Amino acid sequence: MKPIRFALGLGLALAAAPALAQQAPAAPVTATSPDGTLRVTLTIDGDGRAAYAISRKDKPILAPSRLGFLFTDVAKIDRRLVVTGTEVRDADETWTQPWGEWASIRNRFRELKVHLKETSALARVFTVTFRLYEDGVGFRYEFPEQPNMARTNVAEELTEFAFAQDGTAWWKPAFLWNREEYLYNKTPLSAVGTADTPITIKLADGTHVALHEAALVDYSGMAVARSEGTTLRAALTPGAGEAKVRKQGAWTTPWRTLIVADDAAGLYHSHLMLNLNEPNKLGDVSWFKPGKFAGVWWNMIKGEWTWARGPRHGATTANVKRYIDFAAANGIAHVLVEGWNVGWDGDWFGNGNDMDFARPTEDFDVKALVAYGRQKGVRLIGHHETGGAASHYEKQFDKAFKFAADNGYMVVKTGYVTDAGQIERVDADGKTYREWHEGQWMSNHFIRVAEAAAKYKVAFDSHEPIKGTGLQRTYPNWVAREGMRGMEYNSWAGKNPPEHEANLVFTRMLEGPMDFTPGIVSLKGEKDSNILSTLAKQLALYVVIYSPVQMVADTPENYAKFPGPMKFIRDVPTDWQDSRVLNGEIGDFVTIARKQRGGEGWYIGAVGDEQERASAFKLDFLTPGKRYKAEIYRDGDQADYRTDRRHDIVIESRLVTSADTMNLRIAPGGGFAIRLVPVN
Ligand code: NOJ
Ligand code: CA
Repeated sequence: MKPIRFALGLGLALAAAPALAQQAPAAPVTATSPDGTLRVTLTIDGDGRAAYAISRKDKPILAPSRLGFLFTDVAKIDRRLVVTGTEVRDADETWTQPWGEWASIRNRFRELKVHLKETSALARVFTVTFRLYEDGVGFRYEFPEQPNMARTNVAEELTEFAFAQDGTAWWKPAFLWNREEYLYNKTPLSAVGTADTPITIKLADGTHVALHEAALVDYSGMAVARSEGTTLRAALTPGAGEAKVRKQGAWTTPWRTLIVADDAAGLYHSHLMLNLNEPNKLGDVSWFKPGKFAGVWWNMIKGEWTWARGPRHGATTANVKRYIDFAAANGIAHVLVEGWNVGWDGDWFGNGNDMDFARPTEDFDVKALVAYGRQKGVRLIGHHETGGAASHYEKQFDKAFKFAADNGYMVVKTGYVTDAGQIERVDADGKTYREWHEGQWMSNHFIRVAEAAAKYKVAFDSHEPIKGTGLQRTYPNWVAREGMRGMEYNSWAGKNPPEHEANLVFTRMLEGPMDFTPGIVSLKGEKDSNILSTLAKQLALYVVIYSPVQMVADTPENYAKFPGPMKFIRDVPTDWQDSRVLNGEIGDFVTIARKQRGGEGWYIGAVGDEQERASAFKLDFLTPGKRYKAEIYRDGDQADYRTDRRHDIVIESRLVTSADTMNLRIAPGGGFAIRLVPVN
């Protein structure tokens, strides 16, 4: 890792009174990103209210937007503020991800710290730290320890995001019972309600913005609520008590982040969120190897098998053996087993406290299966469904992760199936509280999971999680999460619409790895239960959707019907050297190319929406002078998600070079997948 270069004082332009760092300037204070693209300006009005504004290439993105806090027990912070000093430094470093969409990440920013103080009796002090990147801004509040803030109880954060123009927003509602699992609304920005982040906005002039947060640790998750016009304001997730956030001594908020780009692709290419997280705290995590997993799962999700014991129990020794055989035959590294442990019988939605994560059911012979898997090079993935009984889970951490490690599991899948606001926390004195999945207590719970699992060299994939804020940089054993409407919705009424994945790429996927569980090939269901996808699109999802643990979600029997398409699922890697969005519009279509890590192959995936579309792109990312065999899996000419031609697929090969372009049709509800392997 290259050292960060400090350049104190560089690039600071004080509009009112030019001054050096650490002196006490009058606001406004302004600074640009190192390349000059983005500018932030902090002003103080006549009442002493602080506001920040952001412009890009001299065009306003955010008009002056207020800063401040409400507290449950003391006067708010928002007026009678003065700037007492500023500091600026530049940094430019490159770091390596142990796994990911890009192997190497450049972190080049200018940091502006603005120190503020109240002139009122409480005389509280804090700093707003901005980090300016070519492709966005992150900022956070930092409160040092001080006499009038020994304990802090935040009622609400008053941070505003006052967009300078209207636009179109893609967003899902916040604080509803089903947590993050809602379809996206596409509305004018001026009609947004209360939204989860990331919220993605295409401004009227075409500029794309994604508003989110980074490094959500010991704080409650931030949603945004529109206050008026095109102004959004922070709306923090509640906690069990009156305060949404409680702190003692010094404290900081997570980074509030805006990625700002010319187009949708630019949003995806930003590394801002990862860069705003702390480096890896776990040391060498090379014991975690990205890979695919099959699972005793789809039959349960469809209601044919049960998690609970009984005649239709899914996690039997015989079933798991069959899945191990299937995985071994297809180069799939893991088999996920759900319902393997005691606690599922009866109403598991309400019985999280019955779950025992070290006690298999009698019909699941874990020792025999682990030995069988070892012979065949397949490991099991353990499932920990907490039913939201998070404290009960914490009490079992040691035995649960020891059981996993003793049985050679590299990955555990966790789950928190309970309504929003219904996570069960039990204090040391035995009192029970109800917390939110995205609240402050859960932000800390997930860090405790990461640390407990890491002790045993176990990675985890959390379902019904807190939102992703780049913490996989700090805790690289937190390898994936759900946090959206995944494939499971396609087994129920109210299917995911064809545009869903083209929405997810530019919204939820900006949070990081997404366990969507792709690859359902049994698309034809009973009556109206057809899945709204072509077969080629299911293959495309292995490239379009990123997760280092990628599920092969259908059953062995269903895959046996499609040996041709199965080859792509077998070949496609789950760890990447480089990733590039070749084209895309939010909710309409996207084409992504990824280069495998540790190899020369490239893979391309494209998905569309309900319309017939075409995707044209250059292959100029290939190594010049090399010839590649392109194995193409595309929608057949008659393929259409609305008809029984959804399985129409054409599999063909051709030779290409970096000088070629491709132009492929995407059927309604369709997509394509391509494997490119060098031949000379
Ligand atoms: C919901 C999860 O998304 C799914 O993958 C899991 O099978 C069930 N909960 C049961 O835990
Ligand atoms: Ca669309």
